[in-house]
Amino acid sequence: MKVIIAAAVLAALGAGAAFAQADVIKARQEAMKAAGAATGPVGKMLKGEEAFDLAKVQAALRAYSDTAKKSAALYPDNSKTGGDTAALPAVWEKKADFTAKFEAWDKEAAAALASIKDEASFKATFPNVLKNCGGCHETYRAKKS
Ligand code: HEC
Repeated sequence: MKVIIAAAVLAALGAGAAFAQADVIKARQEAMKAAGAATGPVGKMLKGEEAFDLAKVQAALRAYSDTAKKSAALYPDNSKTGGDTAALPAVWEKKADFTAKFEAWDKEAAAALASIKDEASFKATFPNVLKNCGGCHETYRAKKS
């Protein structure tokens, strides 16, 4: 009897862990999607395809800080695989560097939020903020096939 109960408890725990793992992967992908969605119009502004709009620039920078703050906690050890994750093993092999990159991204976005006042300061500053995306994806995110 004890054995059966123990097995049932273990099975329940196992299912819980798998569920939580898929959840956390989904949560970090949703957080990144929000950053990506906010970047769309700003990228067009940089290319001159859309008129400069300070409110959208500020919304993007706030989304970056928000995503950066949330993200560090969304890569627990049990989420290396599964849930269609594109996170590479390097995330867990170089966790300190990975986490530092989120902090740097948050800081740079906050600084840009304070310093961007007009189109000229936007064009001078924003491309540097965007370097954080590729600078992290290059090492920590699988390329789309
Ligand atoms: C410190 C690291 C880091 C930074 C900075 C970063 N990303 Fe990501 N991003 C990731 C990782 C890791 C994934 C893969 C997550 C997964 O699939 O589990 C990802 C995934 C994504 C995705 C795919 C989400 C999905 O639908 O699965 C988008 C879009 C994205 N990032 C956009 C951005 C943009 C835009 C920026 C900059 C403005 C940015 N990221 C900055 C690490 C980063």
